Amino acid sequence: MPVISVRNLTKTFGRTLAVDDITFDVGVGEVLGFLGPNGAGKTTTMRILTCYLTPDRGSATLAGYDIRDESLEVRKRVGYLPENAPLYEDMDVVSYLAFIAAVRGIPGVETPGRIRRMIDTCGLEKVLGRNVGELSKGYKQRVGLAQTLIHDPDILILDEPTTGLDPSQIIEIRKLIKEIGKERTVILSTHILPEVEATCSRVLIINEGRIVASGTPRELQAIAGGEDTIYVSISAGEEPVDAKLAGIRSVTSVSRMTDAGGGYVRYLVKAGNDEDTGEAIFRIAVESNWKINELRRETLSLEDIFLKLTTRET
Ligand SMILES: Nc1ncnc2c1ncn2[C@@H]1O[C@H](COP(=O)(O)OP(=O)(O)O)[C@@H](O)[C@H]1O
Ligand SMILES: [Mg+2]
Repeated sequence: MPVISVRNLTKTFGRTLAVDDITFDVGVGEVLGFLGPNGAGKTTTMRILTCYLTPDRGSATLAGYDIRDESLEVRKRVGYLPENAPLYEDMDVVSYLAFIAAVRGIPGVETPGRIRRMIDTCGLEKVLGRNVGELSKGYKQRVGLAQTLIHDPDILILDEPTTGLDPSQIIEIRKLIKEIGKERTVILSTHILPEVEATCSRVLIINEGRIVASGTPRELQAIAGGEDTIYVSISAGEEPVDAKLAGIRSVTSVSRMTDAGGGYVRYLVKAGNDEDTGEAIFRIAVESNWKINELRRETLSLEDIFLKLTTRET
């Protein structure tokens, strides 16, 4: 049973079709990435799933509860970190978390324990007495995550959690999200490509309100129809290396590049990425008594795939 189940969600604002018939499931413990450019509909989808917006059409359940009919139950089980999470800047970190715990209806006797856990989980020890407004963006985001987690939700929905952070803060927040995500189901959105590679087990690429691709980063490569490029240096004497490599089923072309010295010649092999061509090359080399001193595969980066899938053909 999926933890999050979304069917045909659609939302318009005036004449803008922000979310256009989106359907997907998220399984227990998955970290799902929404990847898409600005205006793709990521935030709108997240606001619908967290019951801040009602869809025009379609339905969704989170932890088995319906977003329209059981929104209170949904909210109990979901932690939502909005884009640019608003924080009360005049409170110190502990008072702020206590305030959030009260808003969340956490019993007073449990509050100190919960706050303690958030301080540990989110690394807030050093800034406990400081006002939220004085904190660096990285620490503010940690407070935001603590706020999102304080009621111990099974599901986390994080909207662009690293936007506006500097590179070292980004690394720390990603690490934290990975850690937090170990025991929970997470959806996070981003328009930054390395983010999904660093944190997500599966990706939905969203463009103009629609899911244009989904899968693991590796599966997306296959969807985009990317070819592998393999560089291999072989020493084979007088043998016809080109012809033998071209005989491998997945290989589409073999080009002889340069003399690599010591009797080695460097070849560029293009191949479909449906099977492991490198392994086939290696096998032929062994069978033929060739020597190999380089075998390197280049695959399409997620960036290439993203451009391919979100750029309209004209
Ligand atoms: N409250 C709103 N009123 C009018 N238009 C909106 C509103 N929220 C979002 N939109 C529009 O819906 C589209 C999707 O926006 P959004 O969900 O914020 O995308 P993303 O988060 O992927 O950048 C955009 O064209 C945006 O301008
Ligand atoms: Mg957004």
